[in-house]
Amino acid sequence: MADNKRPETMQRITTKELADAFIAEQIEALQAQIGNGKVLLALSGGVDSSVVAALLIKAIGKNLTCVHVNHGLLRKGEPEQVIKVFKEELNANLIYIDAVDRFLDKLAGVSDPETKRKIIGEEFIDVFAEEARKLDGVKFLGQGTIYPDIVESEKGVNRFELVEPVKFLYKDEVRMVGKALGLPDNMVNRQPFPGPGLGVRCTGAITRDRLEAVRESDAIVREEFAAAGLAGKVWQYFTIVPDYKSTGITENSERTYAWPVVIRAVNSIDATSATPEPLDWALLNKITARITSEVKGVNRVLYDVTPKPTGTIEWE
Ligand code: XMP
Repeated sequence: MADNKRPETMQRITTKELADAFIAEQIEALQAQIGNGKVLLALSGGVDSSVVAALLIKAIGKNLTCVHVNHGLLRKGEPEQVIKVFKEELNANLIYIDAVDRFLDKLAGVSDPETKRKIIGEEFIDVFAEEARKLDGVKFLGQGTIYPDIVESEKGVNRFELVEPVKFLYKDEVRMVGKALGLPDNMVNRQPFPGPGLGVRCTGAITRDRLEAVRESDAIVREEFAAAGLAGKVWQYFTIVPDYKSTGITENSERTYAWPVVIRAVNSIDATSATPEPLDWALLNKITARITSEVKGVNRVLYDVTPKPTGTIEWE
């Protein structure tokens, strides 16, 4: 499709000046495309949808409605940050949907990885489409499609015309534009995060307590990586809590039977292959001490040293 090909004359956005020029150009283009129309955008808080939201806020203000669906599988602090940045700081029209129970109830007892992904994807579209039906006069759908993405059609919401201001950009350019738009560093430099979120890191059938162990241990790893200066240097780092227990012992000599937390930290260029980060032993010890003392239901910490191949980056 010709209009899905990046123009050959388009300069790579590598500086603040080029990002500013792109922003000015896009604001004009968005205003020309949308006029007085209304746009709906699913805002996950990831860098792509956040940059699209910030561009649209500049271009059309309150004619943009952002919908943030909390499916219960987001990282610690993410929904709060989306609300803080977009609703409070950028004064956006933001609808926050707490769909945690809805997703977790649907996923209860489902252990097959592909079925889990399917449920999460379909439920997301259902929640979003329900919200879209409640809004009057929305003609456009904003999307954080970027150039390497396979352009997917949005089932159930395809009555809209698409608004895709970053579709010709590569990830590094999206980050450059996000920075120029004034989005917070931790949002702009966010590591890749799968659509099904923590759901694929809480292997097997998701339970709320084990999901909490994933969320809390992930937050500790992120904090410790940041403190060690590794945030932004390591491509992707997170934790997995398998559906499996082992025996352990407390300092008071009581036996425990609890989950292990697996740390995964890999470097990659495009996620098709990856190598484990050679983590410092002292850092691993510190993370282990924090996870085993702060995260409920956990008595062991493992480090996954598997490259891709043979192991994928995610565990499901
Ligand atoms: P794997 O596990 O296949 O992952 O080595 C490669 C990269 O893709 C991310 N990933 C996903 N991203 N939706 C996404 O948007 C998904 O369903 C999904 N599954 C995996 C993964 O985090 C890694 O960066």
